[in-house]
Amino acid sequence: MINNKSRISALILFITALSGCNQELKLTEQQQAGQQKAAQLCAGCHGTRGIGTLAVNPNLACQKESYLAKQLRDYKSEHRNNHKPMVNLAKMLSEDDIDNLASWYSILPCDGTY
Ligand code: HEC
Repeated sequence: MINNKSRISALILFITALSGCNQELKLTEQQQAGQQKAAQLCAGCHGTRGIGTLAVNPNLACQKESYLAKQLRDYKSEHRNNHKPMVNLAKMLSEDDIDNLASWYSILPCDGTY
């Protein structure tokens, strides 16, 4: 006989397993710094998990780190200048910020499950 208490524990375990959000990402200090900067400046458009909040906002999750860093440097130097908000944001970033952000977004799962 299964009592209610063990039914509830089993249900909680089941829901935790399904949620996928218990996936542990081991962050380096660089990635933690990137995560913080992203929460302040980027999450409104690129989502807290690197999935764009609108159709026009690209996903950054699981993109190649070197590609992300290059795009940010290209916006900063206006070598890539087709989107004014990204150019203005990139100009606010230090070289370290760029490396931190690129490292953070690159380790996020592509499907936004983190
Ligand atoms: C106002 C909304 C907005 C904010 C805030 C924003 N972005 Fe963007 N971002 C966009 C849009 C829209 C694009 C696509 C622009 C284009 O066509 O070049 C983009 C493009 C990018 C790209 C290039 C993606 C690719 O596939 O080439 C990177 C990298 C990026 N953003 C990083 C960031 C980072 C890091 C931050 C925070 C510092 C940030 N963005 C903040 C809207 C935003």
